[in-house]
Amino acid sequence: MPRTLAVELADVPETALWTLYQRAGEARRADAVLHDPQAVELVDRIDYPFAERFGPAGGFQSQLQALRVACFDCEVSDFLARHPRGTVVCLGEGLETQYWRIDNGRAQWLTVDLPEMVALRTDLLPPGPRQRYLACSATDPAWQPEVDPAHGVLITAQGLLMYLPPHQVRALIASCARAFPGGSLVLDSIPRWFSRLAVQGKLRHHGYTPPPMPWGMDAGEREKLRTADPAVASVRDVRPSGGRGMLGALLPLALAVPPIAERRPTVTVLTFDQQPG
Ligand SMILES: C[S@@+](CC[C@H](N)C(=O)[O-])C[C@H]1O[C@@H](n2cnc3c(N)ncnc32)[C@H](O)[C@@H]1O
Repeated sequence: MPRTLAVELADVPETALWTLYQRAGEARRADAVLHDPQAVELVDRIDYPFAERFGPAGGFQSQLQALRVACFDCEVSDFLARHPRGTVVCLGEGLETQYWRIDNGRAQWLTVDLPEMVALRTDLLPPGPRQRYLACSATDPAWQPEVDPAHGVLITAQGLLMYLPPHQVRALIASCARAFPGGSLVLDSIPRWFSRLAVQGKLRHHGYTPPPMPWGMDAGEREKLRTADPAVASVRDVRPSGGRGMLGALLPLALAVPPIAERRPTVTVLTFDQQPG
C-alpha cells in the first residue's frame, strides 16, 4: 500500500481536492457514471479532512461532476483516436486522473499547474515516460514552447477558467489559438448567476466556501468566445448524457428548456485555424 500524505492547500489549489473527492465519491458507487479507481485510491491515501470540509460525497454533486468529467474524457478520447501520438495539454490539472482513465499508450501528456500543485501531484502521481508536469501559470505563455505540436495538440482547461478574471480568459484563448494552429481547446464554464454567488462568498456548503469565480458565461453566450481571436475557427457545445436517477431524468429537460438551458454550466470545444491570420 503506498504511503499516506498529509496535504494542506488553500485558495484555488484546494479546489482540486474538492473535484477529486467528488470523482472518487461517484466512482465508489456500484452504479457509477465514471470509472476512476485511481481517484478512489488517491482520496484514501491523502490525509485531509475531506468529509468534514466538503460534506458527504457520492450524491447529486458527485454525479454532476462525473458527468462533466465524462464530457472531457469523450473529447480527449476522440482526439486520441484521430491523433494517436498527439499531445494532450492539461491546464490546471490538479489531481485529475484522466491519464489513467483514457491514455492510449502512445500520446504525450503535459500538465501545467501552479508550483504547489505540481509538487503534490509529483509526490502522489509520479509521471510516467510520456507524462510531464510543468510548474507554470496557465496565463503565462512560457508553457507553450514546451508543447510538441508534431502530431496534433488538444488543450483542456477543466475547472480552471472560472477562477480567472474575464480578460485573462480571453487572453489565454487568444494566445492558444495563435500558438497552436489546427489545435483545439476544451473548456468548461459556470453560468453568470453562479459566478455572482461565488464572488459574493454565498456558496458556503458544509463549512467550505469556494474561492471567488470571477468568470461566468451563460450557455447562450458561447459564440462570444469566437471573438477572443480571429484564429478561433469554431465553437461547439458538448452536452452531458447518461445520468442516473432523478438527475438522469431531468438532464434532457434542463438541456431543452430555454431559460434553464441558457443558464447551465457548459463544456465547450474551440478549434483553431490551421493558418492563423
Ligand atoms: C478546480 S481545480 C481543477 C483540477 C482538475 N482540472 C479537475 O478538474 O479535477 C483548479 C486547478 O487549477 C489550478 N490553477 C489555479 N490557477 C491556475 C493558474 N493560473 N495556472 C494553472 N493552474 C491553475 C489549481 O492549482 C487547481 O489544480
